[in-house]
This record gives sequence, C-alpha cells and structure tokens, in this order.
Amino acid sequence: MTSGNKEEKDYDDEAKNKNEQPTCDSGDDVANESTTTAAATATATKSIASNFMRGKIILITGSNRGIGKAFVDTFISYGVSKIYAGVRDIISAKKITFDNKEYNNQDVVVIPIYIDMNDVNSIITASKQIEESGDRLDIVINNAGVLTRTCPLDNDCVKNLQYEMNVNVYGLINLAKYFSPILGRRRVIAAIANSSDSGSENECGGGNGNGNGGIFVQVNSVASLRCVIPEVSTYSASKAAAFSITQSLKKELWSKYGISVMSIHPGPILTDMIKEVSSTRFNNAPPPSIVAESLIDAIITNSGGDDNKQLPFMIYPDIKSKSLGKAYQSFAEIVHEQGNAYAE
Ligand SMILES: NC(=O)c1ccc[n+]([C@@H]2O[C@H](COP(=O)([O-])OP(=O)(O)OC[C@H]3O[C@@H](n4cnc5c(N)ncnc54)[C@H](OP(=O)(O)O)[C@@H]3O)[C@@H](O)[C@H]2O)c1
Repeated sequence: MTSGNKEEKDYDDEAKNKNEQPTCDSGDDVANESTTTAAATATATKSIASNFMRGKIILITGSNRGIGKAFVDTFISYGVSKIYAGVRDIISAKKITFDNKEYNNQDVVVIPIYIDMNDVNSIITASKQIEESGDRLDIVINNAGVLTRTCPLDNDCVKNLQYEMNVNVYGLINLAKYFSPILGRRRVIAAIANSSDSGSENECGGGNGNGNGGIFVQVNSVASLRCVIPEVSTYSASKAAAFSITQSLKKELWSKYGISVMSIHPGPILTDMIKEVSSTRFNNAPPPSIVAESLIDAIITNSGGDDNKQLPFMIYPDIKSKSLGKAYQSFAEIVHEQGNAYAE
C-alpha cells in the first residue's frame, strides 16, 4: 500500500508554503535590525529559560534515543540539576549514551532508571526509588512510545493495537498514577514555605487553582488528532486514546496536585520511529531537538519563568504540526482551553 496519496501531498505543500518567508523590499537596514532584535530576544529567552531550569529535577521515559534523548541533551544544555533517564536497558543505555564524554564536565547528574511502560511494576519500583531518595520532581515527560505499520484489515491489527495501547495508553495511565503524587510533593513543600511566610496554608489536593505542582508532559502526536494513512491506523488510535486520557489528566492533576499538564503533538520527526513508517519519505523531517526546544519555549514564553502559572495545553513543535494546529486552534480554544464543548 502506498503512503504518498494526494491528501499527504497537499499537506506537505501547505506546510512548505507556510514556511516561505515574505520578501522584504525596504532595504538591508530593516532586515539587519529585525535579525538583531530576533537574536536579542532569543538570548533573553535562553537566559530566562536557564534561570527557570536551574536546579530542576526531571524524569523522561524512553530517553536513550530519538526524541527522549533530545530531551535529555536539551535539558542538560539549559542547566537542570538532575535527570532521571527512563530506559529499558540500563547497562547498554549507560554505555552508549550516558557514559559518553558529552556528559562529562556537566554539573547535571544523569541517572538511568529502569522503566518499561509495558510493566506497571517497573513504574511502581521507579516511583518508590525516587520517593525514597527524597528528590522532588519538577517535570515528568512521558515520551516513550511504539508504532507498528498496520492497516485495519491486516490480520495482526488487533494484536498490534493491543501492543500500542499497552505502551502508549496504559503506560501513560500508570505513569501518571504513580508519579503525580511525587510531582505534587513540590506543592506541599511550597505550601509549607508559604504558610511560614503568610500564616495561610495551601492544601495539597484542595483544588484551590494554584499551581506549583510541577509539569506533566505527554508526547502525543499529530496522529492523536487525525489518522493520515491506513498504515498508521492502530498507532493513531492509540495516540488518540492517549490524547483523550491527557485531556482528563489536565483537569484532574491540576485540581488534585496543582500540576500543569502539557500535550505535545509533533508531526514527522527524524527518528527510528518515522523510519518505520517510510525509510525514505521523511529524510527531510526536522531533528528531535525541535520538540525539546519547543517545550522549553512554551514553558518560558507563557509562564515568564513563574512556577505558579498553568501552562498552555497543546504544543505544536514543527512546521507540519503547526499547520495542523492552526486548523485545530478554534476547536481547541473553545473545547480544551475553556471547556465549553456545547454551544448555548
Ligand atoms: N518520530 C516522530 O515522527 C514522532 C511524531 C510524533 C510523535 N512521536 C512520539 O514521540 C515519542 C518518541 O518517539 P521517537 O520518534 O523518539 O521514537 P523512537 O526513536 O522509536 O524511540 C522510542 C523510545 O521509546 C522507548 N520505548 C519503546 N517501548 C518502550 C517501553 N515498553 N517502555 C519504555 N520505553 C519504551 C524506546 O526504548 P528502547 O530503545 O528500549 O526501545 C525509545 O527510547 C513517542 O511517544 C512517539 O509516539 C514521534
């Protein structure tokens, strides 16, 4: 079955057009000025981001390759203090990745931790390990995911959907269940600090609308919003289910623990996973670092570095996903952000 159908080509062309820069006919000075302003803004944002990230402790699942590895590298470059790098094979991940010289001379501590999203016991054990260490987590990123090339009429469709549901959906539910209380501890610590300042106490679980419970990030996909080709039918179904759970988590984790939930929806990104879809078609897809940078940008641009603010829900990191996000925007604003699903 071919994946190069008209719908996809239109989608590619649309994204390409959006990428074209308007021509500037008012001379080099204006162009130079806007380049200088853009560079100054980027430097200022990087500096706010580095201040925000300093001292933070982060857990990332599926962190040994692809987008997960890019999260590790990017957070290191912003100066976080510790990363719990969720992997399925600690020894090889250490050898290939975390013992590399790129991690030397850094102030950050990278601790590989065994997490198999298909095994709830590994999630429970990892959560206990972190809890017992006394560390508070600031950000949890559920990045691990699997994809099979499966059309709805294929013989192994149900089996493959089950496999993707196990990792992409049930894994998410278990991770949120066992790690939210650890993220939420942040809020208790803040409440204790505040109560000694002002005499008032913020109850954890009281749903008082304050944040401070940290950030839970789910790596979803454009496939959560639409299934573009039959070959990714089961993957898209699992990612749509994961997005549905993420929407519920957004409300539940905020009211119970003051945790901001963010849902990232990348388009094709150049990793092993996209090569499963096509070995050649996505050779020009953006690198995984674009996903990590877009998350940090969304956190900083919207919070201004303030830990208490609820953050934007849906993030579109690359040109293709931004194009889809634009089409989805008014629906998302009314339904996801304001919660008014039904017109009066
Ligand atoms: N690449 C894209 O175009 C794209 C687009 C949209 C969304 N995404 C999403 O981005 C996330 C990362 O994808 P990627 O492109 O970086 O994929 P990838 O290169 O295939 O890497 C997948 C990662 O998930 C881990 N993983 C797989 N099964 C696991 C399990 N049962 N328990 C724990 N970890 C497991 C893998 O670890 P092992 O090395 O142990 O297998 C690996 O670290 C996924 O959620 C994916 O759905 C990707």
